[in-house]
Amino acid sequence: MDKLVIEGGRRLSGEVRISGAKNSALPIMAATLLTDQPCTIHNVPKLRDTLTMIKLLESLGKVTRYEKGKLVVLGKGPIKDTAPYDLVSTMRGSFCVLGPLLGKLRRARVSLPGGCVIGIRPVDLHVKGLKALGAEMTTDAGYIVAKAKRLRGARIYLGGVFGSSVLATANVMMAAVLANGETIIESAACEPEIEDLGNFLVRMGAHVIGHGTPRIIIRGVKELLGADHSIIADRIEAGTFILMSVATRSDLTIRDAYHGHLLSLIDVLESIGVRFEYTDDVIRVINRRTITPASINTYPYPGFPTDLQAQFMALMATTPGVSVITDRVYPDRFMHIAELDRMGANIRREGLHAIVQGVKTLHGAPVMASDLRASAALVIAGLTAKGLTEIHRIYHLERGYEDLEKKLLNIGAKISRKKV
Ligand code: UD1
Repeated sequence: MDKLVIEGGRRLSGEVRISGAKNSALPIMAATLLTDQPCTIHNVPKLRDTLTMIKLLESLGKVTRYEKGKLVVLGKGPIKDTAPYDLVSTMRGSFCVLGPLLGKLRRARVSLPGGCVIGIRPVDLHVKGLKALGAEMTTDAGYIVAKAKRLRGARIYLGGVFGSSVLATANVMMAAVLANGETIIESAACEPEIEDLGNFLVRMGAHVIGHGTPRIIIRGVKELLGADHSIIADRIEAGTFILMSVATRSDLTIRDAYHGHLLSLIDVLESIGVRFEYTDDVIRVINRRTITPASINTYPYPGFPTDLQAQFMALMATTPGVSVITDRVYPDRFMHIAELDRMGANIRREGLHAIVQGVKTLHGAPVMASDLRASAALVIAGLTAKGLTEIHRIYHLERGYEDLEKKLLNIGAKISRKKV
């Protein structure tokens, strides 16, 4: 197993190019199951998660070719209906094959993904949405089994206790595009990745409107065709680099990123003294030497993303003053607190909140990555800390950040990978 070693305390400078969005790529790759025809997807990031999804598509009967970010998915006869435990358990995102398998085959058997370190992750909204379309939903030996003689459009309210659900919206959309009649999803997730999925489905010949808003209207069609599509930029990767730039008080140019997808982050950073300049696909971060603390709550899009909460906490850890961080999407997503505290941060959890008392500086230490975004927070902490930070279990980072070390080296970070 490898570890990352970061020598902190250096300013970053220059330009970084953002990859395609992991959370767009996964459902869009799953949507290729809806057609027998070839699909070509561009700007697919090379990540552990996208490679797992390729394996899953192949195990379901597709043939794939993946080179330099271009993924071609071809049919070679009928697809299978079972997504096995060994693939789904390594990546929750693979649960989004449930909707397309049910839409295409009228049956699906997909392993339940289980919980993970960021908290209990139920699938009741997925089940509710697919049931409303007429599927019989049962569980059997750790698998969700979905069956339907025919799927019929329905009006479905998909809001949950924690707001809308991204992958439940994706699953219901992908089943509804091949259902009879009209489906209206109310309280749909509005994330840009859902909008991207809707655009791909439209390219395949589906009738979808309203994707990217809380009401999505779908008129079912008999079949879908092959399509060509390019994945949008990864707003979470872009946000992570913005936070790295602010934490190290550096000016950075972030290319192939769309600021419109990051307004909640940009707004809070502007309020604490960071300046931004942007064009359609470039974000320039201009830092003052001092910033003030800010409190945040995460919410579904367009609110502050839970996937940037840990990285924001790493920034607040070295911002003098007190900030309060609350995660309304995953209230237990605080595994990074203990690791940041090992580096000298002063953060404590009080119920639903993390209270961060900013310190002057962090100190390098060996730390353990617990999940994807917590790992990114440790990289930010390592970049600002005095001395050497060793980050263990970096396979979490490889799930979601393409070429992270290379990109960081290019902007002046001192980072290397070592065998443990
Ligand atoms: C997606 C993202 C993940 C991100 C999350 C929230 C992908 C592959 N992953 O995950 O990176 O952190 O959105 O922005 O796109 N919930 C229920 N019942 C359900 C489903 C979800 O109560 O049936 C709850 C969850 O526990 C959570 C909240 O709803 O509290 C939002 O989860 P959801 O949007 O479904 O997350 P994912 O789609 O799994």
